[in-house]
Amino acid sequence: MSHAIEPGKIGSVLPVISRRDFIKGVIVGGAAVSSAGYLFRASTLLAQSGSVAGRLITINVNGQQRRADVMKQETLAWTLRHKLGLTGTKLGCDRAECGSCTVLIDDVPHYACSVLTHTVRNRKILTIEGLANADGSLHPVQQGVVEEQGFQCAFCMPGFIMSSVAFLKSNPNPTRAELANGVSGNLCRCQDYDKILTALMRGAEIAREGNHA
Ligand code: FES
Ligand code: FES
Repeated sequence: MSHAIEPGKIGSVLPVISRRDFIKGVIVGGAAVSSAGYLFRASTLLAQSGSVAGRLITINVNGQQRRADVMKQETLAWTLRHKLGLTGTKLGCDRAECGSCTVLIDDVPHYACSVLTHTVRNRKILTIEGLANADGSLHPVQQGVVEEQGFQCAFCMPGFIMSSVAFLKSNPNPTRAELANGVSGNLCRCQDYDKILTALMRGAEIAREGNHA
């Protein structure tokens, strides 16, 4: 690891990491990715982190029972990110438009920014952090993204992956057009759609080949 800026590498004044390492970090656990979107949600932050007392509840996230002190107006995205430390679920618009916050609730994709946490107490929530196998091997869709390098900044990546995982459960052998339609609730601000779709199609192919645990 060096501190120089090298061609083909991502870096500024911070230690340089390869693009592949960066992408993999986001895929597995949602490593920190900056977004201007965070700057415009002051009202939301105040609304959700105010002094109103919360209530201790238990929710099932990635197969674990997790306890959190949750306010009645608190969204699942907020709880995941700020109470449970699962920052792989991204907040883009915070208003059900971009899909960055997509998680699975009982295998169905939902915008976590638009689900109140106290309503999912008896449901199974799956986030990007829960996709890889216990031995560290990636989910086929994650593997497809690693192989095809389909994203630019990767902020939208967790949402696209979660939507794809859900879609492929019902249609494991989609055409490119069908998969595009299946993830049409997700937006990419880098507008990298063609490469994203190639990566997701590769993920579907890997899943069909059974090259995963
Ligand atoms: S952050 Fe939830 S849809 Fe955009
Ligand atoms: S928002 Fe940058 S790759 Fe999608």
